Amino acid sequence: MNVQGKVVVITGAAGGIGSVMSKRLAKNGAKVFLLDIDASVVNVKDSISETGGQAECLAIDLTSEEEWKQAGETVIKNFGRIDVLVNNAGINIRKNIEEMTLEEWNKMMLVNVGSVFLGCKTVLPYMRHQGGGTIINTSSVCGLIGHKYTPEAYTAGKGALTTLTKSIAARYAKYGIRCNSINPSTVETPMTKNMLESPEWRQERLGEVPLGRLATTDDVANAVLFLASDEATFINGVALPVDGGVTCC
Ligand SMILES: NC(=O)c1ccc[n+]([C@@H]2O[C@H](COP(=O)([O-])OP(=O)(O)OC[C@H]3O[C@@H](n4cnc5c(N)ncnc54)[C@H](O)[C@@H]3O)[C@@H](O)[C@H]2O)c1
Repeated sequence: MNVQGKVVVITGAAGGIGSVMSKRLAKNGAKVFLLDIDASVVNVKDSISETGGQAECLAIDLTSEEEWKQAGETVIKNFGRIDVLVNNAGINIRKNIEEMTLEEWNKMMLVNVGSVFLGCKTVLPYMRHQGGGTIINTSSVCGLIGHKYTPEAYTAGKGALTTLTKSIAARYAKYGIRCNSINPSTVETPMTKNMLESPEWRQERLGEVPLGRLATTDDVANAVLFLASDEATFINGVALPVDGGVTCC
C-alpha cells in the first residue's frame, strides 16, 4: 500500500488503535502528525522516530476549535500539507440510556462527533487549497447496527459519523477529496479492557463474531492503511466494517 511521503494527521494517537495505526502508517513511509489529549502521545512519536520514521505530535483537546486551528497551522508549518486526516479519537461512557445523564450524553457527542466535525472543518480548507486529500473516520459496527451491548449514546454518535462521512464524500469529491469510515467490531484496547475482563462480556462479544475472534489493532490499522493509500483512490463514501462478519448477522 503506497502512502510514501504522505502527511497523515491522526487523532487519538496515544490510544490502543491510534498508536498502532500511527506506527503502521509511519513504517510504510508516511509522515505522521499525532494528536491526543494524553501527553503520553510523545512516547508514540519517540518510538516512531527511534525506528527511523517521521513523526511529530501535539497534546490538544480535540473538542476545542481554537486548539484544532493551532494544530492545523502547526502541521502545515512542519510538513507543508495535509494529505490524510484520520479522526480516530473517541470515548465510551458505559451507561445505557436510562442511566446516562444529559451531561454525559453531551460529552459523548462532543468527543465522538464534535471533534470529528472540528477536525474536518480545520483540514478541509487545506485539502481544497492543495487540490485533494482523504479523510478516514473511525466509526464502529455500532455506527451500522443498534448494538444491544453498547450504550445508545455511543451507537448514536458512531451512526452520525457514518452519515457525516458520506455527506463529506458527496460534497467534497469535486475537490479531489475522499472521505470514508472504518467500522470495527470489539478490539482489545484501553477503551474495552475493563469490559473484556468480565468472562461473561468477553464471551458475548466473541459470540457475535462469525470468524470467532475479536478484532485486533492490526486489523484496523491495515484497513486505515488501505484507505489512506494510492490503491484506494476510487473508494469514496464507504463505511468499511472491520468486524469478522458481525454486521452480516
Ligand atoms: N476498542 C474498540 O473495541 C473499538 C471498536 C470500534 C471502534 N472503536 C473506536 O476506535 C477509536 C479508538 O479507540 P481505542 O479503542 O483505541 O480507545 P483508546 O481509549 O485506547 O484511545 C482513544 C484515544 O482518544 C483520546 N481522546 C479522547 N478524548 C480526547 C479529546 N477530547 N482530545 C484528544 N484526544 C482524546 C484518548 O486520550 C485516547 O488516547 C475510538 O473512536 C473508538 O470509539 C473502538
